[in-house]
Amino acid sequence: MKQTVKLIVGNWKMNGLAADLAGAVAEMLADLKATPASARAGLCPPATLIERMVRAIDGGPIAVGGQDCRVETKGAFTGGVSAGMLVDAGATMVILGHSERRQEFGESDALVSDKVGAALQAGLMPIICVGETLAQREAGEAAAIVRGQILGSLHDGLTGQDWALAYEPVWAIGTGLTPTLDQIAEIHAAARDAMIERLGDGGRTAPILYGGSVNPGNARDILALDEVGGALVGGASLKAADFLAIIRAA
Ligand code: PGA
Repeated sequence: MKQTVKLIVGNWKMNGLAADLAGAVAEMLADLKATPASARAGLCPPATLIERMVRAIDGGPIAVGGQDCRVETKGAFTGGVSAGMLVDAGATMVILGHSERRQEFGESDALVSDKVGAALQAGLMPIICVGETLAQREAGEAAAIVRGQILGSLHDGLTGQDWALAYEPVWAIGTGLTPTLDQIAEIHAAARDAMIERLGDGGRTAPILYGGSVNPGNARDILALDEVGGALVGGASLKAADFLAIIRAA
């Protein structure tokens, strides 16, 4: 399905200090206010910056999100941040199941699904990440791995809600490598089938973002693909000019 309004979300990971609000974010905001974009834009900074970024954006055309949340709403979970806390700080979306969390923190599909439920309960838009490793791709398993992650990581409550899937091949994240356009189209089509397999009609409309080394040079071609509903952007979202160019390419 051709998605007309694309969603471009920046994932700052563990980068960003208050000074970046006066720098990169102010620059993005001024540009988007002067010339409104046809795409929806979002930024997911570290939790420490969410509230200040929301204040800096002050109702402007960039949504703010978290990069993870816990399943529990509160309690003795040192270092944890709940979905309700993200909402309290002004976030409207949250990235869940990013491969860095799946790998570093051993997050399983079942845990990601529970986090999706917690995010929905709190009123956040979940952006659910899936993607194969290089070894899995080389073994010809990319589509099967992505299907399995989708079946395990989605949540019954997603039907009728605002949410997105993000296909991010692990080997393309932060490496400058990207799949070919044909490979992206193939996995996005397989992902759509799996979303429908899991949720029925509820899996038909959520956008499927592509993520992994998206930059101003490759964004236009990737975003022009039928099943690509937007992009999840890491490194390039830290630079105002690059992130703006990707938003403008959508
Ligand atoms: P990258 O990261 O754009 O730096 O490859 C993407 C992501 O991890 O979401």
